[in-house]
Amino acid sequence: MSESLATVSYIGAIILFILCLGGLSNPETSRRGNLYGMIGMTIAVLATVFGPRVTIAGIPWIVGAMVVGCSIGLYAARIVKMTQMPELVALMHSLVGLAAMLVGFATYIDPAASADFTGPAKAIHEMEIYIGILIGAITFSGSLIAFGKLSGKIGGNPMLLPGRHWLNLLGLLVVIWFGREFLNAHSIQDGMTPLIVMTVIALLFGIHMVMAIGGADMPVVVSMLNSYSGWAAAATGFMLSNDLLIVTGALVGSSGAILSYIMCAAMNRHFISVIAGGFGTAGGTTVAPANGEPAGEVSPILADETAELLRDAKSVIIVPGYGMAVAQAQHTVYEITKHLRAKGVNIRFGIHPVAGRMPGHMNVLLAEAKVPYDIVMEMDELNDDFPQTDVVMVIGANDIVNPGAQDDPNSPIAGMPVLEVWKAKTSIVMKRSMASGYAGVDNPLFYKENNRMLFGDAKKMLDEVLIALKS
Ligand code: TAP
Repeated sequence: MSESLATVSYIGAIILFILCLGGLSNPETSRRGNLYGMIGMTIAVLATVFGPRVTIAGIPWIVGAMVVGCSIGLYAARIVKMTQMPELVALMHSLVGLAAMLVGFATYIDPAASADFTGPAKAIHEMEIYIGILIGAITFSGSLIAFGKLSGKIGGNPMLLPGRHWLNLLGLLVVIWFGREFLNAHSIQDGMTPLIVMTVIALLFGIHMVMAIGGADMPVVVSMLNSYSGWAAAATGFMLSNDLLIVTGALVGSSGAILSYIMCAAMNRHFISVIAGGFGTAGGTTVAPANGEPAGEVSPILADETAELLRDAKSVIIVPGYGMAVAQAQHTVYEITKHLRAKGVNIRFGIHPVAGRMPGHMNVLLAEAKVPYDIVMEMDELNDDFPQTDVVMVIGANDIVNPGAQDDPNSPIAGMPVLEVWKAKTSIVMKRSMASGYAGVDNPLFYKENNRMLFGDAKKMLDEVLIALKS
């Protein structure tokens, strides 16, 4: 393939990637967006493999690597459960970081890669290598820790080392100093030591940064590492002088940064305080009341009583959370929705921006069950409607409906906007026990007078509700 055909293909791929991002911004166009992305990526890979910079001798290596990569990818895609998607995404971000690191070292060691650079251009090229490896190493180790935290292999508690901000500052200064040493090095051997020291510091920084972030801030960390992986890809593009990789990396990096901002706004947090760490504790534990007394009385309800309430309701709001994903209850939820809509009940879904374990988690599940998009509303669109709502069904959600975020300034999630379900006539919370959610805090909603608890696996309980509704 000639140089100009490769360039035209790259421009085509870039346009398709932009259309892909545009499409993904709306559930109705997301399928088309995905298709654009897939076509763009196919063009990009073909134009690179058959492009002017790959020799015939290199093609079998690339094809071999692609077969191995595709097989692992296909296998992972087939076995991964929907609830494991967030950690899979974190693992994939780590691979982008690892690739940036390896490309950086390979580019530095390969004399042919730097042969074209002299004088200031050489310094700029080496700076690209240094910064590329730095971003890659932080992304790699940070994403691995995020994988551990999201999969529950590492606890959600923030690890707060004494003087941790000073440690980070010291690390930054050492990295800058070794950067100077690296640029002044006269040979590859001389430059290797500063490069390796910086890589070790960057790896430790990535671990430290994500370890210090508490469970409740993980949504921001996921999107932040998404952004880092984009910048790592862009850095790789600079090292390889590949314009497509630079543009694509920048697209991912900036969209991840925008997503981090949206996540921060959704949780009413400043980005800097998220990075500084310490917010939220371990999740999934049964919360012991502080004074040894029960935190309150709860009123349990049965499935057929729930069906009775739903049958009599004129308006219903369903608030899904992580437990709906665990129970895979979305299809039954939609069966119930269809049944109630046929009876003239106004039924809508309220989606919190950080519900579940990844951005858009609930939207994906509801789309999979074919719930119409026009009844799936954002938190802000719906929060004023709760006082006029007869029944709210909270399905496996906890932190996102916690009134303590508004009422208790000492709550670890104080200030996070929540769905105000307790303002409805009746709220029904479906979960298996009194265990806390991801942020590890007790939920005063459970003890409210107008709240009922439907204990059990969400799928099992909803199946019972559906049978009772139909009988
Ligand atoms: P959570 O607060 O984590 O609550 C989920 C609840 O589901 C748990 O209390 C659990 O209680 C229940 N549950 C689990 N399995 C269930 C099952 N099979 N059937 C019924 N219930 C089940 O979830 P949420 O309300 O969606 O809030 C999300 C939390 O995750 C926030 O704290 C958010 O910051 C954090 N987070 C979000 C993201 C993103 S990007 N969305 C990423 C990382 C972390 P039982 O054990 O008693 O059943």
